Amino acid sequence: MSSDLPESIQFLHDAEIGLGAWSWGDRIVWNYGKGYSDADIEAGFKISLENGVHFVDTAEIYGNGRSERLLGQFLKRTESPVIVATKFFPLPWRLTRASVTRALRASLERLNLERVDLYQIHWPSPLVPIERYAEGLASAHRLGLTRAVGVSNYDKNQMQRAYTVLSGHEIPLASNQVEYNLLNRSVEKNGLLARCQELGVRLIAYSPLAMGLLSGKYSPENPPPGMRAGKYAGVLKEMHPLLKLLTEIGQDWGGKSAAQVALNWCICKGALPIPGAKNVHQAEMNAGAAGWRLRPEQIEALDEASDAFSK
Ligand SMILES: NC(=O)c1ccc[n+]([C@@H]2O[C@H](COP(=O)([O-])OP(=O)(O)OC[C@H]3O[C@@H](n4cnc5c(N)ncnc54)[C@H](OP(=O)(O)O)[C@@H]3O)[C@@H](O)[C@H]2O)c1
Repeated sequence: MSSDLPESIQFLHDAEIGLGAWSWGDRIVWNYGKGYSDADIEAGFKISLENGVHFVDTAEIYGNGRSERLLGQFLKRTESPVIVATKFFPLPWRLTRASVTRALRASLERLNLERVDLYQIHWPSPLVPIERYAEGLASAHRLGLTRAVGVSNYDKNQMQRAYTVLSGHEIPLASNQVEYNLLNRSVEKNGLLARCQELGVRLIAYSPLAMGLLSGKYSPENPPPGMRAGKYAGVLKEMHPLLKLLTEIGQDWGGKSAAQVALNWCICKGALPIPGAKNVHQAEMNAGAAGWRLRPEQIEALDEASDAFSK
């Protein structure tokens, strides 16, 4: 499959794991400003690069532009190559294809870059046809503002429509970024993962740790803070056997953590996980999820353990 890939998107298939930058500036979900500082985030960014993780995913709405600005500052202070992905948010007044290139130029200013590596439509819009934003992506690509283009949270049909428009411009659809982890395997069940693989579209797995739950540090007695407590209240009660298995498999691998096993499971499924990290410890641990592969029977056991309650 990958030998047929256009050269321009090969970089996404070469990346095994990335770094998610949602928590860099976000107060509403991640409590930015409490418990982790800009210095912690930058240290996590640096250790990721040192450990071979070069793909960073941000978005214009993360922290209302703060995530992009922080990344822009960090980029100035590193010599290492960084693959930068950001996203367009379909705000209700963004009704034209030109809104895509306009928003990208604003992102580039915050990032202090002339072009990004991947520009993604964050969500399909209820107001704007898929085709119109896909045309916007094609313009951004033609103008050299992005090396590759992708979508996010698109179902099979929406992805196909974007793919078709871009094909008309001889531009490959590079990626579809969707939620994928051991608690949410809908992309396996609804055929999206398989379709991505057929089309050569890289499936980027967001929330690959189920927002931290698959690290095993949360439990019904010690729930995660903020909105995550409500979102995961039910599943927290049911996931103990899965966490136990993740830990056991990690031990079998000479001391890998539950988080590392959960991320490696994503890699083994053919996805590119982009775990978020707030500090050095998390970033370093997540980088250690790449460079090895679970055995087939371990993947099967994890699938089985998650079958009972995963989406
Ligand atoms: N396209 C979209 O619509 C969309 C939606 C969501 C996310 N994303 C992207 O995907 C990225 C990752 O998703 P996510 O941030 O939602 O969830 P995630 O990667 O599943 O979880 C990240 C959180 O888990 C905890 N954590 C991370 N590494 C850990 C480790 N090794 N040990 C223990 N805890 C650890 C941290 O939070 P605590 O320390 O607070 O527990 C961290 O903020 C985002 O940053 C963003 O780039 C995209």
